[in-house]
Amino acid sequence: MSEDSSVSFTAQFNLSNQEFSLTGVLRPRSLAEIADALALLRSAIETVKGVCYVNLKRVTHMNNTAFRALTRVLVDASRSRPELKFVVVASSVVAWASRQFQHLCDLSPNIVVEIYDSAFYPGQTFVENQSFIPILRTQTKMTWRHEREILPRHGLREGMSIADICCGIGDFAMLLRKEFAPAKIVALDHSALSLDYARAVAEDFDVRDIEYTYGDASQMLFESDQFDFVTCRHSLQIFDRPDLLLRELYRICKPGGRVYITNEKNSHCLGEPRSDSIQWTYTEVAKLFAYFDMDVEMGPKGRRLLLDAGFTDVKMESFMVTNLDGDPRDFADIITAWENVYAGEMAVKRGDPPDFIERFRQGFEDHIFAALHPRGYAGWPIWAASGQKPL
Ligand SMILES: C[S@@+](CC[C@H](N)C(=O)[O-])C[C@H]1O[C@@H](n2cnc3c(N)ncnc32)[C@H](O)[C@@H]1O
Repeated sequence: MSEDSSVSFTAQFNLSNQEFSLTGVLRPRSLAEIADALALLRSAIETVKGVCYVNLKRVTHMNNTAFRALTRVLVDASRSRPELKFVVVASSVVAWASRQFQHLCDLSPNIVVEIYDSAFYPGQTFVENQSFIPILRTQTKMTWRHEREILPRHGLREGMSIADICCGIGDFAMLLRKEFAPAKIVALDHSALSLDYARAVAEDFDVRDIEYTYGDASQMLFESDQFDFVTCRHSLQIFDRPDLLLRELYRICKPGGRVYITNEKNSHCLGEPRSDSIQWTYTEVAKLFAYFDMDVEMGPKGRRLLLDAGFTDVKMESFMVTNLDGDPRDFADIITAWENVYAGEMAVKRGDPPDFIERFRQGFEDHIFAALHPRGYAGWPIWAASGQKPL
């Protein structure tokens, strides 16, 4: 927990579900900075009957001052109103949350602490679930033939120490290991399912020198200035606070080392024939992700993001994965996987009506049609960018 003052949060109380919620960064220097929020919590507690929910799922940082003040209010209230039950919901994505908040249960029997991850990043349930595995596997297969050529232009050499952050199912780390013979390679993700998959593949191939690690990319346990080359592919775009993640990538990179990122701009996916339908659907993909606070239009913003984060010598290039890159059915497989998750899960979760979902699906079908058409062309553009951490 950091002690530098930085307070940027909202406190709300919703009487209909008896839920007090905090969102954002709570690092006050003095209690005065969070006095209003504490007063709101106290008055909320006076109003509720039965169960009082305290939702901290989207608190990204909390220092000791805030933690102590908050727990004091809760412990006092649990004693003065023993008939109430308090359910505190925190996220394990904030590394210390589970440990600290569990003490509350020990202090008061009527306080229950639940650790709940899925709403920390609004899109987390989608990107961490199993349906993403086929998407990631096929995507990496298609992007690798481009990236193996691109990576040396961004400074990757043999014998480096590499970290692949938000590694997904670990296939990129495997490819890096094979092609660039790193001195050391670690791969971190927050999806236990994806890491299980990665470890099983590594075992099948008798690969023992990739360190797969569970962790939160925005608060990593790696020490600073560790790696020559840090990669983070297709992942900044799914964080609602990419700046926090970039700060961590910067921190773990050695001075003089480089951070390499890739991101997409989904509305620029294209195909012929049936271009209009395809374009409509991918413009809607971008809006759908934005609804869940993810920016799949991030690709061209990579240069600015790296410069803003303090990197120098920023290099950027784009490439287009197309149906002509190899077997067009590989391209079609990616689109099928997107259709399943984006139309089959995300649009449904957003509550889109059936006629929207039908049109939405049609654009994916048309993209597949273009990819498999003997005279068709289908593309998926990606931006690769890297920057050097100053010496
Ligand atoms: C779109 S996938 C990209 C995976 C991989 N880099 C690739 O290109 O195949 C995003 C990944 O970020 C991971 N992720 C999401 N939130 C995370 C967090 N807080 N810490 C670490 N990984 C996270 C997800 O589990 C998922 O594997």
